[in-house]
Amino acid sequence: MPNQSPIIQIAEDASGLARLGAALFAATIRSEVDKKGSAFVALSGGSTPRAMHRLLGQPPHRRDIPWHRLYLFWVDERCVPHTDGASNFGAARWDFLESVDIPRDHIYPMPTEPGSKEAAQAYAKELEKTVPKNHEGVPCFDIIFLGIGEDGHTASLFPNHDALAEDARWIVPVQGGHPFVDRFTMTFPILNTAKQVVFLVSGTPKATMVKQILDSGTKRPLPAHQVRPVSGNVTWLLDKNAASGL
Ligand code: 6PG
Repeated sequence: MPNQSPIIQIAEDASGLARLGAALFAATIRSEVDKKGSAFVALSGGSTPRAMHRLLGQPPHRRDIPWHRLYLFWVDERCVPHTDGASNFGAARWDFLESVDIPRDHIYPMPTEPGSKEAAQAYAKELEKTVPKNHEGVPCFDIIFLGIGEDGHTASLFPNHDALAEDARWIVPVQGGHPFVDRFTMTFPILNTAKQVVFLVSGTPKATMVKQILDSGTKRPLPAHQVRPVSGNVTWLLDKNAASGL
């Protein structure tokens, strides 16, 4: 099925964006649990999603989402201790995981051993064991939340990096980003198998990149351009500042 055109929703400001994101998270989980009794989600890190994550740990979402039916993975992670301020898992644990009734064995933090191909493979095995797969045997998330960098990266898939061309391994070790550290990241084969991918983008500094990515005519292919779910849809949740170039 050809890639559908993206859905774009624009919030007044960053807190409105967080509410939009949390509402979409909650609605998707409830719908998937109603349909199949469970839901499978992958979260990104960075600063943008934190306001949304904090809302997930507060009423009504803390109470209303069927957390015990949710399986939670990460799109990428920095190879730092979970207590480090740069840790994506550490931020999520602080922001909401300790406030919701998600079973501890439904939470799958990424490894943090720098550059370890074995650790990447082990996380891929967890995906394979836990997440329902599509007809090609690729784990198929119900919803994946992504951000973008001002350079057009998404996940920890950075411009001109070999990982952009990875078409076999689902998880790879990389280096890059701010902070410039060793990381693990999901690759496009996994991202593009999701039923729904949601870009959550806030702030004027991202406006030019949002326009470039959404302007399909842009010549310079950017990592975020390569997020084109084969049969899923892409939603852009933006605040007014991030959407100001559209
Ligand atoms: C990471 C993120 C990364 C993030 C963007 C935007 O671990 O760095 O997954 O892809 O989404 O860099 O980060 P900000 O939200 O902090 O701007």
